Amino acid sequence: MNGTFLIRTFGCQMNEHDSERIGGMLRADGMTPTDDVADARVIVLNTCAIRENADNKLYGNLGHLKPLKAEHPDLRIVVAGCLAQKDQGVIQQKAPWVDVVVGTHALPHLLDLLRRAEADGPQMDVAEYTDLFPSALPSARDDAFRAWVSIAVGCDNACTFCIVPFVRGAQRSRAIGDVLAEIQGLVREGVVEVTLLGQNVNTYGRDVTIPGSSRRPLFADLLRQVNDVEGLRRIRFTSPHPHDFTPDVIGAMAESDKVCEHIHFPLQSGSDRVLKAMQRSYRRERYLGWLDAIRDAIPAIAVSTDIIVGFPGETEEDFADTLDVVSRARFDSAYTFQYSPRPATRAASMPDQVSKEVVQERFDRLVALQQEISLEKAREQVGTEVEVLVEGAGPRRSSTQARTRTNRIVHLAERLDPGAFVTARITDAAAHHLTGEVVPAPASV
Ligand code: 5AD
Ligand code: SF4
Repeated sequence: MNGTFLIRTFGCQMNEHDSERIGGMLRADGMTPTDDVADARVIVLNTCAIRENADNKLYGNLGHLKPLKAEHPDLRIVVAGCLAQKDQGVIQQKAPWVDVVVGTHALPHLLDLLRRAEADGPQMDVAEYTDLFPSALPSARDDAFRAWVSIAVGCDNACTFCIVPFVRGAQRSRAIGDVLAEIQGLVREGVVEVTLLGQNVNTYGRDVTIPGSSRRPLFADLLRQVNDVEGLRRIRFTSPHPHDFTPDVIGAMAESDKVCEHIHFPLQSGSDRVLKAMQRSYRRERYLGWLDAIRDAIPAIAVSTDIIVGFPGETEEDFADTLDVVSRARFDSAYTFQYSPRPATRAASMPDQVSKEVVQERFDRLVALQQEISLEKAREQVGTEVEVLVEGAGPRRSSTQARTRTNRIVHLAERLDPGAFVTARITDAAAHHLTGEVVPAPASV
């Protein structure tokens, strides 16, 4: 196809990654990106089903596009992502001006669908293919030196608040060889940091066997093998489940020098009663025990988390338990969510949904506590010297934003080239970023 395209991405890294592939496929087909809605020949809304009001947002966006489509009948509107998977036929029913609905499993069919839409009108593909991975598609990365690599899609857990198993299906892991080949290719293109992506990355491999053997590849094996890729400097992964940080995974992390000292360790709640209702497999003391074990093995590790406030039935006592775990765990950062019922999930029909006012009040207390802890943790960094990777322009045009291995953002006063590694001395700290100065490299002898 000729002409321009525009992609709007909602939601998580998985969607960002899918959007890179959507852009890559359209570019490979001869199209060019644009920021101008009025000028676009193809508009893709890559949707998310997790966030509150996701449906309203989608239909609001589609409502705005309706007059544009009437004006430019050549415009092709695509709805991709988790809402496309969830709502399927409902989308074209409510917004018949949508040309293509492409589910999360069918993304590699996008170009075909667009072509068929040109010839035959609206198309939809939401089938659950099991052999297609977005990472195998051409990509249009925003960043020349960092890349996401999908290692598994879907999730075999059944957390009662979560819609992911409904829209992304059961876990399907990619072969280690394919993952390694992709990373080697990326390194040849100049990539120095990869983030391994999956809904539950540390159960990687449980659904496949190594060709020619009955053994299953494990996440620890994968980490070790990715660590051996020459030229790669940093390895990250997200999102893991606390339950699956088995000793072999922790061991592989500790031994692999490229694996960065940061883990995301989603708590969700600090109350045993709520954890049980959420169908999370651990309880508070076990969670804290795992965290201690990880910090013992990797002392420099920074820890981030996800917490949901106001799960159905959460009492003030339950919430006090969450605050207590947060105080004891001392996370470097936390993503805090107000519970919102997602269609089809078990929690959505549970009794005792907590009122909006109560959720808001608890949420504010949690954010205030975590803010204090984040600031204390950040201040502990002042005076240290750390390796940072330059990402791009900082808050001022003359400054730079860089990132530590522990995933902390560092602002540097001078302008440096993206992709460069430098040593920074940390001079100041705020809750969400550090300030530093570049330590000159020692003169070579
Ligand atoms: N309500 C609020 N937060 C949710 N999350 C997932 N589902 C819901 C929901 N229904 C949060 C969880 C998860 C993160 C990605 O989003 O904390 O870890
Ligand atoms: Fe959702 Fe994560 Fe639970 Fe899977 S492990 S059901 S993706 S919250």
